[in-house]
Amino acid sequence: MSDTYYITTPIYYVNDMPHIGHIYTTVMADIFARYHRLCGDRVRFLTGTDEHGQKIQKAAQAQGIEPLALADKVVARYHHLWEILNISHDDFIRTTDARHQQGVSEIIRRITAAGDIYKGEYEGWYCAGAEAFVPDSQVRDGKDLETGYPVERLSEPSYFFKLSTFQDRLLAWYRANPDCIQPKTRYNEVLRFVEGGLKDLSISRASLSWGVPFPDDPEHVVYVWLDALTNYISALGFGSDDDTLYGEHWPASMHLVGKDILRFHCVYWPAFLMSAGLPLPRQIFGHGWWLRDEAKMSKSLGNVVRPDYLVDRFGTDAVRYFLARDMTFGQDASFSDEAFLERFNADLANSLGNVSSRTLAMVRRNLDGKVPASTSDGPVPEAAQTAVTAFREAMDRNAPHRALEATWRLLATIDGFIQERQPWAVARKGDEARKELESILYSCLEGLRIASLLIEPIIPSTAAKLRAQLGATDLPVNLADGVTWGLMGEGHKVGESEPLFPRIDIKAYLKELQSGQETEKAKAKKERTPEDEMITIDDFSKVQLKVGIVREAERVPKSKKLMKIMVDVGEGEPRQLVAGIAAQYEAESLIGRRIVVIANLQPAKLMGVESRGMLLAATGEDGAPFLLSPDGEVDPGAQVR
Ligand code: MSP
Repeated sequence: MSDTYYITTPIYYVNDMPHIGHIYTTVMADIFARYHRLCGDRVRFLTGTDEHGQKIQKAAQAQGIEPLALADKVVARYHHLWEILNISHDDFIRTTDARHQQGVSEIIRRITAAGDIYKGEYEGWYCAGAEAFVPDSQVRDGKDLETGYPVERLSEPSYFFKLSTFQDRLLAWYRANPDCIQPKTRYNEVLRFVEGGLKDLSISRASLSWGVPFPDDPEHVVYVWLDALTNYISALGFGSDDDTLYGEHWPASMHLVGKDILRFHCVYWPAFLMSAGLPLPRQIFGHGWWLRDEAKMSKSLGNVVRPDYLVDRFGTDAVRYFLARDMTFGQDASFSDEAFLERFNADLANSLGNVSSRTLAMVRRNLDGKVPASTSDGPVPEAAQTAVTAFREAMDRNAPHRALEATWRLLATIDGFIQERQPWAVARKGDEARKELESILYSCLEGLRIASLLIEPIIPSTAAKLRAQLGATDLPVNLADGVTWGLMGEGHKVGESEPLFPRIDIKAYLKELQSGQETEKAKAKKERTPEDEMITIDDFSKVQLKVGIVREAERVPKSKKLMKIMVDVGEGEPRQLVAGIAAQYEAESLIGRRIVVIANLQPAKLMGVESRGMLLAATGEDGAPFLLSPDGEVDPGAQVR
C-alpha cells in the first residue's frame, strides 16, 4: 500500500514579480514531491496565487489597472517560472477561482455553525504589507515593528473569530504532535506565542471591496488570510460538488512556508480547521530566508536575484541544485555569485560531471561502449547502499542538504576508487587484465546509475540525461527495486555523452556579471513601479511648502536660464532663491507675484549664487517652467498642503 503525500507551497501575492526567495519554497516543495513519487507514494503537489486584499488592490490602483488584470499578468509570470524550473505541481490555485470562493464560503458557514463567529467593531492598526492586524504594542512611528511596513488605523464593523477560546486546544495539539511544526526552534516559538494568550481575530473587512464576499453579508469581504489559507482545501474540492480529492488527500502531509508566515499557518489555520471540525495538517515546515550577500533582498536596493537570468545562463538544474544544497533547510542563507559558481564547478562540473564522463569515456574506448558483466568490486556497492539509506533518512527528516551530501559521498567514493585502481593503466595491460578492467568499470557504471536515482528529485533533467548516457533508460526509476545493485545488463550499449555541466570560467563570468549588475541596478531605479513611488502622509509633511511674494528679481549674469529672486516667505527678511525661469519670465513681471516655495530645502549654490529654497513650477512639454501661484491673495508664509 502506498502512502499519500500532499504537499503545498504558500500561495504567492501578485503585487510584484517573483524573485529567488519566492521560487525557493516551490523548488523545495517540488524536490519533496518528486522524492515521494520516487518512493512510490501517491503525491499531490499544490501551488498558486493569493490575489485578494488591500495590498493587491493598492498595487493595481497604482498601476491604473483592475486587480484581476494585475493578477493575470503576475500569474503568467509564475506559470513561466514553474515551467522553466521544471516544477511538477499537480494543480495551481488562484484565489479568484470560483472553486476557491466556494471553499471559503463553506468553511465560514461551518465556523459560524460552530458558534465561533460574532459581529463587532475593529478599532486598531492594520499592516497592508503583511495583511495583518497589528497590536498597539507592535507599532512605532507609524510602522509595524515586526515587518517594518507602514500601518494604518482602522475603525470599522467587523466579524470576529473567537481565536481566544482556542488556546488550550492549540496547545494540546502542539504537545501531542511535537513534530507538527518544524524545525524545533520554530515549534518552540509558536508554542511560546500561544502560551502568551490569544486575542479574537477580525476575519472581515468592511472598508475593502477586493475579496471574497462574506457569506450572507456582502458589505464585508473575507479577511485575506482566512481566504488564502483555505486554498489548501478548496483546491481539493472542499465546498464544491466534487470533493473526491479532498477525501483522498486531506489532511496535508506538509505545508511548506517561509518563517515569516508561520503564525498564520500554525495558529490561525489549525484554529479555523478545529472550529470547522476538519482534520489538521500533519506538518508545517518554516524555512529560512535567502539574503543577498548577507543583506535583505530588496527591489529598491537593486540586489534582487532574478531566477530566470540564472536559469538562462546556467540551466534549471544548476539553480535547483544550489538552492537545495547551499541552504541548511530551515535556516537563513546568503546568496552570492561566488558561492553559486564555486558550487557549480566543484560539485556539478567536477564531481558529478567528471566521474561520469571519465567512466563513460573508458567504457567507450576500452570496452567497445558495452556494459560488462555484473560484479561488485571495491567499496562502491556498499557505498551505494549506504548512500541510499542516508539519502532517504535525511529526506524523511526534512534535511535535503544532508541528502545531497550523502549522494556526493557516493560520487567521491567512485572517484576515489578510480584513482586507486587506475583503470587506464589496467587497460594498457591488454587482454590478460580485461576481466579486472570490466569489473572496475562495472562498479563505476552501476554506482553512477544509483546516484542518478538519488539526484532524480533534485536535478531531474540531469538525472535522466545521465541515465541516457549510461544506457540505463529501461531500468526502474524508483527508490525501491531500482536501487538494487547489479541491474545494469551485460552487453547493453552506453549512450552518447556530452558534458553534464561544462566548467565555468569564474573570473570571466564575474566580470561579465559586474557590468550586468550595473545595468540591473540602473534598471531597478528606472523600473520602480508606481507602488514603489508611493509616499506616506508623513513623508509628505516633511516638505514645508509656503506662499511667498517676489520682492526683487534679476537675471544671474552670464546665465540664460537662472534668475535670482528675493522672496518674502513671512520670515521678516526676504530669502534669496535662484530659479531656472529666466528664459521664460522677465524680471519685472515677477515682482509682486505670489509663488509657492519649498522652504526647508538644503541651501545650494547655482553658478556661485546661493539659493535658500526652491520655487514650484509645472514643466511644459518642451521643459519650459510655468510658475504655480495661489488662487487668491494669501499672506506670505501661508502653508501649502
Ligand atoms: N500570500 C502569502 C502566503 C499565503 S499562504 C496561505 C505570502 N505571499 S508572499 O508572496 O509574500 O510570500 C510567499 C513565500 O515566499 C513565503 O513563504 C515567503 O517566506 C517566501 N519568501 C519571500 N522572500 C523570501 C526570501 N528572500 N527567502 C526565502 N523565502 C522568502 O506571504
